[in-house]
Amino acid sequence: MDEVALVREAIAAREEAYAPYSHFSVGAALLDSKGRVWRGCNIENASYTPTNCAERTAFFKAVSEGAREFVVIAIVGGAEGLPISNWCAPCGVCRQVMEEFCDPRSFRVVLAASPRQIRTYLLEDLLPLGFGPHDLEAAAQREADGQ
Ligand code: THU
Repeated sequence: MDEVALVREAIAAREEAYAPYSHFSVGAALLDSKGRVWRGCNIENASYTPTNCAERTAFFKAVSEGAREFVVIAIVGGAEGLPISNWCAPCGVCRQVMEEFCDPRSFRVVLAASPRQIRTYLLEDLLPLGFGPHDLEAAAQREADGQ
């Protein structure tokens, strides 16, 4: 699936956003290594802090269904009820969730300000020096080795 098609999936995902407080609706479409597309939208809450971003909705749907390897995510967002017109970059928490499941050197983050205005980033550029599972694995290995 090409990036334009994935952006269109994210635009469709945004239709389901539940954002009665911010009125800012976000859609994400996550492509896994088997070619499946996982859609996500933001889901807000009257208590505010339980709000889930579109990107994490997509990741948690995918992981809960067994997907573990991911290639690229497309993200779109903007004022509810209006077409997208600006870039919507993932928040820090979502970047950290990406770091958990993706290789930062190859996982791509696609932002779109319109279906044809697209910018692509590598996760390692959006989250430099990210802390991930490899850091814990390396520490556990050193402990096991008695070093
Ligand atoms: N939001 C996302 O879903 N993804 C982003 O990348 C940025 C922010 C949501 C969270 C909240 O529901 C609304 O946008 C305003 O912050």
